[in-house]
Amino acid sequence: MNVYDSARMADVLAPLGYEPADAPDGADMVIVNTCHIRENASEKTFHELGRLRQMKQRKAAEGGQMVLAVAGCVAQAEGAEIMARAPFVDMVFGPQAYHRLPEMVARATRSAAGPGERGVLDTDFPVESKFDHLPEEQKLEGASAFLTVQEGCDKFCTFCVVPYTRGAEFSRPAAQIVAEARRLVGSGAKEITLLGQNVNAYHGAGPDGRDWGLGRLIRALAEIDGLARIRYTTSHPRDMDDDLISAHGAVPALMPYLHLPVQSGSDRVLEAMNRKHKAADYRRIVDKLRAARPDLALSSDFIVGFPGESEADFKETLKLVGDVGYAQAFSFKYSSRPGTPAALLEMQIEEQAKSDRLYALQALLTEQQTAFNASMAGRTLPVLVEKTGKLPGQLIGKSPYLQSVVIRGNPRLIGQIVPVAIDAGYANSLSGSVEPVAEMEGAA
Ligand code: 5AD
Ligand code: SF4
Repeated sequence: MNVYDSARMADVLAPLGYEPADAPDGADMVIVNTCHIRENASEKTFHELGRLRQMKQRKAAEGGQMVLAVAGCVAQAEGAEIMARAPFVDMVFGPQAYHRLPEMVARATRSAAGPGERGVLDTDFPVESKFDHLPEEQKLEGASAFLTVQEGCDKFCTFCVVPYTRGAEFSRPAAQIVAEARRLVGSGAKEITLLGQNVNAYHGAGPDGRDWGLGRLIRALAEIDGLARIRYTTSHPRDMDDDLISAHGAVPALMPYLHLPVQSGSDRVLEAMNRKHKAADYRRIVDKLRAARPDLALSSDFIVGFPGESEADFKETLKLVGDVGYAQAFSFKYSSRPGTPAALLEMQIEEQAKSDRLYALQALLTEQQTAFNASMAGRTLPVLVEKTGKLPGQLIGKSPYLQSVVIRGNPRLIGQIVPVAIDAGYANSLSGSVEPVAEMEGAA
């Protein structure tokens, strides 16, 4: 989401004459786009700001001016503190305010030039949607694009800051999304990843006057000529409705890979997390998804050491992982977030126990991921070629299952989907060669 937001900020700033720089040093403007999801986010931000302050001073000593901004969810949650602790910062704004950047830049450059005035703080949740005020042109890098369809969250898992920093759930109208997708495809996108903090809770107004769910939206997007791949992230098990599940079987462009966080395999912990589903519900959903799309590869998020989690609870998480089988996963030690209900719970888990559990869980997940990747050897997969690799003659692309594939092939294949004969699968990637026929014709 922050990658998408940063790209949209660049779109908003382009008409003012700003273009992306390779590095912060010497730049006219630096925006630190922050994430607040886990611990240390704000300390990291202040650390980074200390470094940038020196660059800003250097630029000023040379007679220039660097506008320094903090954006994203740390700005949203701790805006006033940033202004107080880092007065050299010119602009602080939350994720809902970046369409107002031109106005903020005008105010910030005025106050940076004159004495007395202080920086700009904008952490409102404006009544107008930023999506109605963003420029249409989007610069696309490569053939894969992000598209935000939904923002915010009403689920209030007890460990999570998102409902507070990103605010209430909001879905963009379907027609607006389809139009943006058409423009992306027009500028060369072959793959679009639909984004939202709770993306499958999507319920936007459809052009037919009805509310569209994510399944309906995906079916409409799949009709766009030239859009070969559709993905979406991140989903909540509760919103995995039958229409969306059946889309996995019915829409060939919908890639056979799904990130579906479960967080824990223990019902006791899931209840304390306010996840609104039990482990058995999750298993049932996975079964339905696999019935619709037998080759579906799954990914998930896990938290270990949630307050009150016992060894027996943790074993249930291991059991669920063993039963479901994941192609990929993210796992974290629980970290207490100020303002969330779980931060106030007693029975916080000791650091050592959290580390031990994370180690055990990651060992199992890595084993599953490695086995999944190794099982690709000998198969021919369609790969979307993204960029050149580190070594000469190397290309990097993505398989349908979101695996990174290192390919021997010609750089003119970048941006294309080509059949790749996979010769090996490793812990984090696959390797293979472009099938000779594609090499000859340059396309698949
Ligand atoms: N501690 C640890 N992990 C967290 N996540 C969210 N909040 C916390 C927290 N307080 C994880 C969840 C979520 C992912 C994006 O980050 O697993 O799915
Ligand atoms: Fe956070 Fe996801 Fe729970 Fe929403 S559903 S509160 S974003 S973990």
